[in-house]
Amino acid sequence: MVLKGSVTLPGDKSLSHRAIMLASLSSDKSVIENLSSGQDVISTRDCLAKCGMDWSQDGEQINIKGRHFISPATPLDCGNSGTTVRLLSGLIAGERINATFTGDQSLSSRPMDRVVSPLQKMNAKISSTDGKLPVIIQASDLHSIEYTMPVASAQVKSAIMLAGIHAVGETIIHETVPTRDHTEILLSALGYPITTNGQRIAIKGSDTRHPGFHFHVPADPSSAAFFATGAAIIHDSEVIFKNMLINPTRFGFFRSLGMLGAQVDILDHWTELHESVADIRIKSGQLHAVHIAKEDVPALIDELPLIAILATQAEGTTTVEGAGELRVKESDRLHAICINLERMGAQVTEHTDGFSISGPTSLTGIHVQTFHDHRIAMAFTIAGLIADGETTLDDSDCIAISFPEFHNVLNYLTLN
Ligand code: S3P
Repeated sequence: MVLKGSVTLPGDKSLSHRAIMLASLSSDKSVIENLSSGQDVISTRDCLAKCGMDWSQDGEQINIKGRHFISPATPLDCGNSGTTVRLLSGLIAGERINATFTGDQSLSSRPMDRVVSPLQKMNAKISSTDGKLPVIIQASDLHSIEYTMPVASAQVKSAIMLAGIHAVGETIIHETVPTRDHTEILLSALGYPITTNGQRIAIKGSDTRHPGFHFHVPADPSSAAFFATGAAIIHDSEVIFKNMLINPTRFGFFRSLGMLGAQVDILDHWTELHESVADIRIKSGQLHAVHIAKEDVPALIDELPLIAILATQAEGTTTVEGAGELRVKESDRLHAICINLERMGAQVTEHTDGFSISGPTSLTGIHVQTFHDHRIAMAFTIAGLIADGETTLDDSDCIAISFPEFHNVLNYLTLN
């Protein structure tokens, strides 16, 4: 079996969330095409609809018209989506309405104080429940802060920026390690007074509202990464991803893939609302171990399960460090990666903030424990392609959280 073909994948999840959120702030009509169809993005859309946003689906595109925000009559259910609850906490705090955020079992166990604490400093009346959901917001007027990020988190950074849009004064954020910068890019493309200087971001609060916009969301590199991994580990594979987001803060996986020894070619590139986009081609290659250091982690945080799978097929010992944040994702991903790979026969050692994996080793099919985590489910489906015997998942429904089309695309690329 090989992976072969050219695909245009659904829109990037991070950009899809942000596009809907920013569209909700304008009273003009915005048109978004190629929106992610994942359940997480539906959660964002439905939460904002409860706060007054009008939307309609028109074939492949969604039309959005913001209205004055209203306090939702019932709690905002963010489902499984950390991006929904954290970014909307900032946005809604700035809109002076009352709201309660809830979520599923996984989201309800994830830390929320990282976002509650800076928003409180901005005078938001916001509280968590022992650091977790439910998070409750009551209307208040915000002022700016200067804030140094204690964790490398684009969700927290974005929440502060979105709250800063209407806060009095200039909100300044210092990042110690750069994280995905989509919020900065979109705000700047829409004309907001935001400046970035190295790892310092500043946004001036104002009452202005931006005009409606048109955005074709580039394909999700985090979704492409599953098939890119398959293409890298299965000899003679060659896959082209068209119209894919290649923002450098998201391209870490593809940079590492090249360092591991797969062939990664950018065929053509352009921009879409200031985001870098390209057609890229991945070909299999002879793989050898890489080292992923703390500063590399944010640009491939969601792709680390795939780095682990690649490492099992690479010559030498691959090490990942500074990835403790993986323990507070949709599942404890470090544990989920290591326990499943070990059962498949890989040589893996779990560390507090990473792992080391020696290869190459052949893998054996297992019944994968997904912990209901979409990225674990998809990553181990790819590992199953090269395993001896059958690989099954204890939950494949969770894949719809980010990528309902995953199996269709995989079938297309393997049957081609
Ligand atoms: C995201 C940021 C990252 C990432 C998540 C999406 C975003 O989370 O893991 O999948 O869209 O801002 P953190 O901010 O917790 O690192």
